[in-house]
Amino acid sequence: MEMRFSSNLVFYLLVTFFHLQLIQLRASTEYTRPSPRQLISRTHNRSDSEPQQVHVSLAGKDYMRVSWITSDKKVKSIVEYGKSPGKYVSSATGESTSYHYFFYNSGKIHHVKIGPLDPSTTYYYRCGGAGTEFSFRTPPSTFPIEFTVAGDLGQTEWTASTLDHVRAKDYDVFLLPGDLSYADTQQPLWDSFGRLVEPYASTRPWMVTEGNHEIETFPIIYPHGFRAYNARWLMPYKESGSKSNLYYSFDVVGTHIIMLGSYTDFDSDSDQYKWLQADLANVDRKKTPWVVVLLHAPWYNSNQAHQGEGESMRQAMEEMLYKARVDVVFAGHVHAYERFTRVYDNNADPCGPVYITIGDGGNREGLAMNFENPSPSISIYREPSFGHGRLRLYNNTHGQWSWHRNNETDAIIADELWLESLSSSTLCNQAAISSKSHNNDEL
Ligand SMILES: *[C@@H]1O[C@H](CO)[C@@H](O)[C@H](O)[C@H]1NC(C)=O
Ligand SMILES: *[C@@H]1O[C@H](CO)[C@@H](O)[C@H](O)[C@H]1NC(C)=O
Ligand SMILES: *[C@@H]1O[C@H](CO)[C@@H](O)[C@H](O)[C@H]1NC(C)=O
Ligand SMILES: [Fe+2]
Repeated sequence: MEMRFSSNLVFYLLVTFFHLQLIQLRASTEYTRPSPRQLISRTHNRSDSEPQQVHVSLAGKDYMRVSWITSDKKVKSIVEYGKSPGKYVSSATGESTSYHYFFYNSGKIHHVKIGPLDPSTTYYYRCGGAGTEFSFRTPPSTFPIEFTVAGDLGQTEWTASTLDHVRAKDYDVFLLPGDLSYADTQQPLWDSFGRLVEPYASTRPWMVTEGNHEIETFPIIYPHGFRAYNARWLMPYKESGSKSNLYYSFDVVGTHIIMLGSYTDFDSDSDQYKWLQADLANVDRKKTPWVVVLLHAPWYNSNQAHQGEGESMRQAMEEMLYKARVDVVFAGHVHAYERFTRVYDNNADPCGPVYITIGDGGNREGLAMNFENPSPSISIYREPSFGHGRLRLYNNTHGQWSWHRNNETDAIIADELWLESLSSSTLCNQAAISSKSHNNDEL
C-alpha cells in the first residue's frame, strides 16, 4: 500500500517534471500569449467649454477635418490654426451636431474643415476659440508614405499598448477597419474612447470604417443604427460622392483608399454597390498606382471565429475589386492577425488582392485563439496576438507590409512582405483575365 503510493507519487512527480520542462522548452521558442487586460476609463476632467475627444481626418484634397466635443453648447464650431505654436493666422468655421440615445444626450459635436493645407507640414490648432493647443502633421505629397493599420481597438490596456506602439514609430495616416469603442449602446463609453484616442487621433489623420460594434440599432426606436458613429466619426463621404458615412474613398499620395461598409447593403442593386462601381471606374492608376480597400468582416478567414460572415459581401463585390486590380484588402472583426496570398474566388491568383485580417487592436473581448486545421494553402501567416500593421509605400511600384505584435513595451515585427503594385504588373494589365498560378514570396 505504502509502496504503491510512493511509486505513484514518483511517477506523478516525473510526469509533472517532464511536462514543465516541455512547457519551458516551448516557451523559449514560441511567443507566450499574455492574458486579457482591463478596461481603461478616461473621465472628463476639462472644463465644459474646453474641447475634448479631438480627432482629425482627411477631408478632400489639401483639407483636413477637425472634430471635437464640448459639454457647453454655446461653444462655436471654429478652428484657428497656423504653422507656428500660438500663431493662428487662419481660421475656419464649420458645423455641429448632437444626438441622443435613450436617456443619454451627447455634447456638442463639432466638425470643421480647414485648408487648403501644405503637405508634410505641422499645423498648430485650437478648437472653439480657446483652450489647449493641438498639432497635427499633414501627409506628404509624394512617396514614401506610411499607413498604420489596426482594427477592433476597444479601450483596454492592450489598446493603449497598441496605440503607444503605433506612435513610437512615425507614420502619416491611421487606418481603422471597424470596431472602435465597443460602447455597444453604453454611450458614455464613446466619450471615454474619444478621450483615450485623442493624443493619437489629434496628431495624425484617423480614417475609419464601421464594424458591428458601431451598429447600435434598437428595434422600432433606432432601427437604422450608427447614431453615435455617424455623429462622432464623420468621414469624407460627401467629398467622395457617397451618400453615406458608412462607405467612402479618398486619395493620399498615389494611393486610392476605399472604405467599405460590411453592415449596410452591398448587393448589386444597392447604393454602395453602384457607388463602388463608379468609384473604381474613376481611379486613374497613373495618379494613384495603389488601390487599397478596408472593410470589417473578412472575406477570407481561416479562424474559427466569425466564419463565413463576410461571404455574401465577397460574393457580391469580389469580382469588382479583382477586375479593378485592387492591391490589398484589410479587414478586422476576427481578433487575430492573418495574411493570405493574392487571392481571387478562393484560389491563389497573381492578380488578386492580398487579403489581411488585422482585428488585433486590443479590445475587451480578447483574442480569437482557434484557427481551422489544416490551414488552407492560401493562408500564409496567422497568429492570435494583439498588434498593428504598417504599410509603407516607397514609390509607384514597391511597398512593404509589416505586422508588429505587441510584446509588452516593445513591438516585434512578426510578419513582413514586399508588395508590388498590380498597376505595374504587365501580366495583370492584359485585357484577358490571367490564368491562375502559384504563390510567390514577393507578391
Ligand atoms: C486628466 O486626465 C488625463 C488622462 O486621464 C490625465 O493625464 C491628466 O493628468 C488629468 N488632468 C487633471 C487636471 O486631472
Ligand atoms: C521603388 O522602391 C524600391 C524599394 O525602395 C526600390 O528598390 C526601387 O528601385 C524603387 N523604384 C523606383 C523606380 O525608384
Ligand atoms: C518580449 O518581451 C519580454 C518582456 O519584456 C522580453 O523578455 C522578450 O525578450 C521579448 N520578446 C522578444 C521576441 O523580443
Ligand atoms: Fe467586429
